[in-house]
Amino acid sequence: MQDYHYYLSEVLITEDALQRRIAELGEQISRDYAGKGELVLVCILRGGVLFLTDLMRKVTIPHAIEFMAVSSYGVGGRESNGQVRITLDLNLDIFNKHVLLVEDIIDSGHTISAVIDFLATRRPASISVCVLLDKEERREVEVPIRYRGFTIPNKFVFGYGLDLDDYYRNLPFIGVVDLQKYQGSEQGSEGAIS
Ligand code: PRP
Repeated sequence: MQDYHYYLSEVLITEDALQRRIAELGEQISRDYAGKGELVLVCILRGGVLFLTDLMRKVTIPHAIEFMAVSSYGVGGRESNGQVRITLDLNLDIFNKHVLLVEDIIDSGHTISAVIDFLATRRPASISVCVLLDKEERREVEVPIRYRGFTIPNKFVFGYGLDLDDYYRNLPFIGVVDLQKYQGSEQGSEGAIS
């Protein structure tokens, strides 16, 4: 795998802008849920990990954290088609608690929508969504988003939790993938295997 610079066509959201917005979201969440009962932040693996860990440091009221993993079936593994399977369930009982789902990105909306339906059967006090990146124009199912970091255009993005073939989740900013270089390297690696 090349250094990330090779695939980066532009930085869409800088580290500073991400951190400033996350601090605002944390303040807002702290105000909204103060005195309302038990709060659980539920991170959807793996993309939401960096967002959760930065966000929770800005949530100043007591809260628990939990993790879920889902897998979606779609073309080349990159696009979900509505079929979502829960591969890691919560350990915590969420009955009567306020659940805030923490996601890195919402695209078609199928993943988060399936998670909401799945968790709703456990009768939490509420379920809300906090998403860092909203690729609104790609939406196929309506999703109730309570907290939104940024609305972004329909570009192939990576960094800050989002991967490019499982790499580069550690980048502190959101970058746009240079499709020519990425597609070129995909063809190159196929050539090497055959
Ligand atoms: C991404 C993202 C969301 C989902 C959004 O996960 O973290 O869970 O896709 O797409 P949707 O709105 O079209 O359902 P991905 O499947 O890439 O897994 P990852 O978080 O492990 O990278």
